[in-house]
Amino acid sequence: MRVRTLSVLSAAILVLGYAVHAATAASEESEKVPPVEFTKAFMSDQANLDTGKEVWVEQCRHCHGKSAYPGKAPKLKPRKYTADFVYDRVSNGFRKMPGWAEVYSEHELMSVTAWIMSKQFSP
Ligand code: HEC
Repeated sequence: MRVRTLSVLSAAILVLGYAVHAATAASEESEKVPPVEFTKAFMSDQANLDTGKEVWVEQCRHCHGKSAYPGKAPKLKPRKYTADFVYDRVSNGFRKMPGWAEVYSEHELMSVTAWIMSKQFSP
């Protein structure tokens, strides 16, 4: 009798565990910002670059800028990146890199990406 109660209980816990796991997996999924399209026109628009530079100065430079080295964050190497990669890291974050999708609009996130990928940028 006791054994049966126990096994029913552990089965219930197992099912509950799966449900919780599925729910968290789903919410992690929905936090991911979907990719956007970067056109040449967007990447070279000076107004976008100016917006991107503002975001960089405000939120990124204190970890990624020259005066932050060594330590806080890796030096950015835009020539090794694609815009899609930068946008994904900036929006969604990665390990110790915070994601900024809750802080900035899609346009601002795209603009800081354009700024990092532009010839005017130096980390
Ligand atoms: C609190 C410090 C911090 C701030 C603020 C920060 N980052 Fe980062 N960033 C990191 C760290 C740490 C990593 C490395 C993550 C890893 O790969 O483990 C990183 C990685 C990145 C990468 C990927 C680099 C690579 O070579 O893999 C990009 C691109 C990036 N950050 C852009 C930005 C931008 C743009 C901003 C401003 C919106 C920003 N970061 C703000 C700490 C920071």
